[in-house]
Amino acid sequence: MKFEELSFEEAPSIKSTIPGPNSKKILKLQEKIEGKPVSYPKGSPVAFAQGFGATIKDTDGNIFIDFFGGAGVLALGHCNPYVEEKVIEIQKKITHTLDFPTEARLEFVEKIRRVLPGSLKNNSKIVFGGPTGSDAVESAIKLSKIITKRHGIIAFEGAYHGMTSGALALTSGKFWKKNYLPLISEVHFVPYAYSYRCPFKTKTAEECAEASAYFYEHVLEDPHSGIVDPAMTIVEPIQGEGGSIVPHNSFIKKIAEISNKYNIPIVFDEIQAGFCRTGKFFSSEHSGATPDIMTMSKALGGGFPLSAIAYRQDLDVWSKAAHIGTFRGNVTAMAAGSVSIDFMLENNLANYAGELGHYLLKKLEKFENNSSIVGETRGKGLMIGVEIVKDKETKKPSPELCSKIRDEMFQRGVIIEIGGHYNNVLRFLPPLIITKKLAESGIDICIESIEKIESELN
Ligand SMILES: Cc1ncc(COP(=O)(O)O)c(C=O)c1O
Repeated sequence: MKFEELSFEEAPSIKSTIPGPNSKKILKLQEKIEGKPVSYPKGSPVAFAQGFGATIKDTDGNIFIDFFGGAGVLALGHCNPYVEEKVIEIQKKITHTLDFPTEARLEFVEKIRRVLPGSLKNNSKIVFGGPTGSDAVESAIKLSKIITKRHGIIAFEGAYHGMTSGALALTSGKFWKKNYLPLISEVHFVPYAYSYRCPFKTKTAEECAEASAYFYEHVLEDPHSGIVDPAMTIVEPIQGEGGSIVPHNSFIKKIAEISNKYNIPIVFDEIQAGFCRTGKFFSSEHSGATPDIMTMSKALGGGFPLSAIAYRQDLDVWSKAAHIGTFRGNVTAMAAGSVSIDFMLENNLANYAGELGHYLLKKLEKFENNSSIVGETRGKGLMIGVEIVKDKETKKPSPELCSKIRDEMFQRGVIIEIGGHYNNVLRFLPPLIITKKLAESGIDICIESIEKIESELN
């Protein structure tokens, strides 16, 4: 399949003021009838009419390059005809079956099992819960408690695992949780190997990984660390919302080894970084470590809501109905997910995303050297972050400059997300079927936008 045929290749094409008059009208209505938690249109005010591949058209006919990709859901892009065909076919046949088996469901389960990493491959069990990533995290919590008959959980600074009560407790951002405390108890956060801001003040990424892993082992080993042996440890092999943080390759392997040594089930959260985004089918494959339990969502359902966990076969120790939900079997999403896996394998999408991402990152790194406000550019495959600072010496974060750059990119026709510990990281999660031309154009617009904001400082 030619990726050029999957997007509006003329993007970006901006014809009106942004937001245009139609967008403004729709946004006003949304504000009137929807509640205050609506968030993305507050950062990028626009109303969309049609998505196509890695591009999206608004209600005024402007076409944007979509570097947001539905927060990582749209690995195969908007309205991929390969997926659409299967979706229409299944929707004419069957709508909803909870967890009664269907041909589409079991075919999908077999396909997931075939692409899982390491020893999970063809040697795992799959459980579908509710349709969002948070629910997969909830089921991992339940399963690990049943396996270990223990209670506490270790998570990492910078983690994002979702918004339901258990998942929120494992999410590190204070903003999200401060109004809802207490959440589940005995959750402890240890440092992730975020080498740009390593709390151990190390010099290299490898040293930061070593120090962070050492600290993790220390809290498990020291009888006076205050942390009783937990039911599980959960980690994103590459952190997403925390700021597209790529730890040194040794880190995840060490965390998994230490967890095994102390008999603590290790959960890899692949909800954002999984399904070819980082250059491997699952992001843990960069480290060679295999989890006991793995969470999946976002790209899992080919653009449709679905989440699941995969875990070692021998850990299938819970009982019938131990984790349920009405939508624990969205047949449409399963059929879409099934053809998405075919598409990923047939087009060697992991390799494509890895190579294109590497090329874009090199371009950004070159620019970083000449910029006074780009602290660090980092990423793996098409999961890229650009950390914006006030001053490269002090590394003082600048959420203000970051949102100005996001606004400038938006005006020029590129949609992105902002994340990071201090809301100062430009985050790029484009559909993996984006062409080199569109991706490069988006990166050029990013560079021009940073240069413009930088020039206003002088
Ligand atoms: C790594 C990770 N885990 C869990 C979640 C929660 O998924 P959801 O928003 O579908 O509940 C997210 C969402 O961004 C995520 O990035």
